[in-house]
Amino acid sequence: MPVGTQGSLKGLTPKQLEDLGCQIMLNNTYHLGLKPGQELLDCVGGSHKFQNWKHNLLTDSGGFQMVSLLKLAKITEDGVEFASPHDGSLMLLTPEHSMSLQNSIGADIMMQLDDVVSSLTTGPRVEEAMWRSIRWLDRCIKAHKRPDEQNLFAIIQGGLDERLRKICVEEMVKRDTPGYAIGGLSGGEEKDVFWRIVTLCTSLLPAKKPIYSMGVGYAEDLVVCVALGVDMFDCVFPTRTARFGNALTMQGPLSLKQAKYASDFLPIEPDCTCHTCQNFTRSYLHTIATKDTVGCHLISIHNVAFQLRLMRNMRKAIEDDNFPAWIKNCGFQEALKLS
Ligand code: GUN
Ligand code: ZN
Repeated sequence: MPVGTQGSLKGLTPKQLEDLGCQIMLNNTYHLGLKPGQELLDCVGGSHKFQNWKHNLLTDSGGFQMVSLLKLAKITEDGVEFASPHDGSLMLLTPEHSMSLQNSIGADIMMQLDDVVSSLTTGPRVEEAMWRSIRWLDRCIKAHKRPDEQNLFAIIQGGLDERLRKICVEEMVKRDTPGYAIGGLSGGEEKDVFWRIVTLCTSLLPAKKPIYSMGVGYAEDLVVCVALGVDMFDCVFPTRTARFGNALTMQGPLSLKQAKYASDFLPIEPDCTCHTCQNFTRSYLHTIATKDTVGCHLISIHNVAFQLRLMRNMRKAIEDDNFPAWIKNCGFQEALKLS
C-alpha cells in the first residue's frame, strides 16, 4: 500500500497511481481528522469521494503518527493526549474518537487505536502497551458503527518479547477481527529478531485472514515477510527515498545523484514498463534528480511501480506454486544471504 498521508501520494497524481494498477492506498486518520476534518468528511460522504479514489483505502488509527510525529504526546488509559499543531491546545485521541473519525473517512479497512512503543523499548512498559492495546481493541470494536461496510483490523503488539506477542495474538484472535496487523516493528531492531517475531505471529494467526506488517517497505523485507506468511505492507520509503534521488531496482537502490549516472543512457530498469523507464534515461534523471520536482516525480512513479510489480510477481509465483524457485532467482540472493 503506497502511503497517501493527507489523501494524496507525495509526487504522484491519483490518476497515475490508478494507472500503475494500485488497488489500495493508505491514509492517516490523524491528518485527515485535522484537515479537512470530520464535519467536512461527513458532508462529502467520506474520503473515497473527497479524493475521487475508486479503489480501496486503509486508514491507520492515528496514535502511531502522533507518537512518532509529536514528541509531546502523552499516553494514558483514556487515549493519546497531544498538543494541537494548530493552536497548541490539548487534545485527546481515544479509541472511540479514532473509530468515529475512521467511520467518517469511510476506508475499507480501518485500524484499531493501539499503544505503540519503540521496538527498542524494554521492560514493563512493553507489557503495559500490549495489554492496553487489547483493551483499546475492545473499545474500538464497541465503538465501530459500520462493521458491515468497514473492516476493523487488530494490531498485535508486545515488542520483541515472544511471550508477550503470543499472549497478544491469542487474545486478539479471540476477538475474531477481519484481519490482523503486526505492529511495533521495523524500528531499528536486528533483522533476525524482526523475522522471529513475524514468524511467531504468522504461525499463530488464522491462515485465511489477511496479515499486515506495518511500516515495512524495503524490497528484501517484503520478500522475506511474504515467505513468512504476510499479505499486506505499507511504507513511505519508496516515495520518500525518491525525493532524495534514489531509484529502486531488483539489484538494490540506485543513487541517481552519483556522478557515474551522468553518462548512463539506460533507463532505471530496462525491463520496467513504467512511464519513467519507458521514456527517460538515468542520465536525464541524474541531471534533474533533486533540482526539480519533476525529477522526484518521475523517480516516485518508478519506485511505486517497482513495489507494486514486486508484490504482483510474488503473488503470481505463489499462485503458480513456484515461490521457492522465484525467491532463488529474484535477484536478492545477496541481501537474503541465500546460496
Ligand atoms: N505504523 C507502523 N507501525 C505501527 C504500529 O505499531 N501501529 C500503528 N497504528 N501504525 C504503525
Ligand atoms: Zn520504471
